[in-house]
Amino acid sequence: MRSCASIDNHSRLRLNLAISRLGGKPMYVCICNGISDRAIREAAEAGCDTVAEMTMRTGAVACCGSCRDLVAEIIRDVQTCKALELPVLAHAA
Ligand code: FES
Repeated sequence: MRSCASIDNHSRLRLNLAISRLGGKPMYVCICNGISDRAIREAAEAGCDTVAEMTMRTGAVACCGSCRDLVAEIIRDVQTCKALELPVLAHAA
């Protein structure tokens, strides 16, 4: 009987995402559909607040789904940044 092995092609993405956040080159998050972290970040900044919305807008997570956690992490990241912006702006005014 043959065993079935899975390939984790996202194991290094979190490190690459951290580098990309620091201004590095864009990183492919959704390999199936060629969607970069920047495209996901821009869509999140434009109002995509859920993975389902992100799938409809960018196509990410629409195939194998192994990018789902990373897409959700980027959405949370952008939402956290949005939440932090208002107190900073209010303090500066
Ligand atoms: S890597 Fe995003 S759907 Fe497969």
